[in-house]
Amino acid sequence: MMRRFFAPLLAAGLLAGVAAHAEDTLSPLRFQSSGAFGSIDLAAAQRGFAVYQGACASCHGMNGLHYRDLEALGLTPEQVAGIAGSVKLADGSAATPDSRFKQPALVNMGGAVPPDLSTIVAQRPGGTRYIYDFLTGFGPAPAGMKLLPGHNYNAAFPGGQVSMPAVLRDNAVTYADGTKATTAQEAADVAEFLTWASEPNLSARHAVGLRAVIFFAFLTIVAVLTKRRIWRQEG
Ligand code: HEC
Repeated sequence: MMRRFFAPLLAAGLLAGVAAHAEDTLSPLRFQSSGAFGSIDLAAAQRGFAVYQGACASCHGMNGLHYRDLEALGLTPEQVAGIAGSVKLADGSAATPDSRFKQPALVNMGGAVPPDLSTIVAQRPGGTRYIYDFLTGFGPAPAGMKLLPGHNYNAAFPGGQVSMPAVLRDNAVTYADGTKATTAQEAADVAEFLTWASEPNLSARHAVGLRAVIFFAFLTIVAVLTKRRIWRQEG
């Protein structure tokens, strides 16, 4: 009786987990890192670093990261050395894997300063999804809306206008893994990269959570079976 109830439930749970991971990230939009058991999509985060480096790093620093941290995304030490070596620091020397991400020269756009992006996902309500919506939220202002000087319309930004310009467009970067670089893809990938930067241990933490849930589910079953055994009516 117990088994008849639990087995289909367990199977359904496992299937749902597998299906969620196999799903395309963009249609419908779904981040592998979201949800209680999500894990960082390393391929997406690697592409997201390329987007950051090519389209964001000129204005936004990520002071919380060293180039060597990129090895946690699956890049080899040689690849990391190559990336660091191609970055020229303020004093003219090349960065090394032990250098912090290069601080851009201070940009001031009408009083607004680009925030450091190291922990931006943790700092914004909506997290990963908000970053995606923000980066894809630029467009023409609705009729009747007056933009302040130096501001651009952005549907996701509180108040609807922001001093950051729209920087993503199709093929703003070329992906090493051959993925088509649409605006939406770039936004999703850089959002996943920034999610990892905000919480590098997300995958490990969620894996521990999943193991705990399985352990307690098992404990519950044992407790129920034990109770039935102890209270079974004899004869
Ligand atoms: C030309 C400079 C510039 C570039 C390039 C740029 N930004 Fe920005 N960004 C800004 C400025 C300035 C602000 C502050 C806007 C404000 O507060 O009005 C900002 C704000 C932000 C914010 C915070 C939004 C909020 O809710 O407060 C995020 C997130 C962000 N940028 C992400 C990115 C990403 C990701 C890229 C690369 C794809 C990028 N930016 C490229 C200038 C830039």
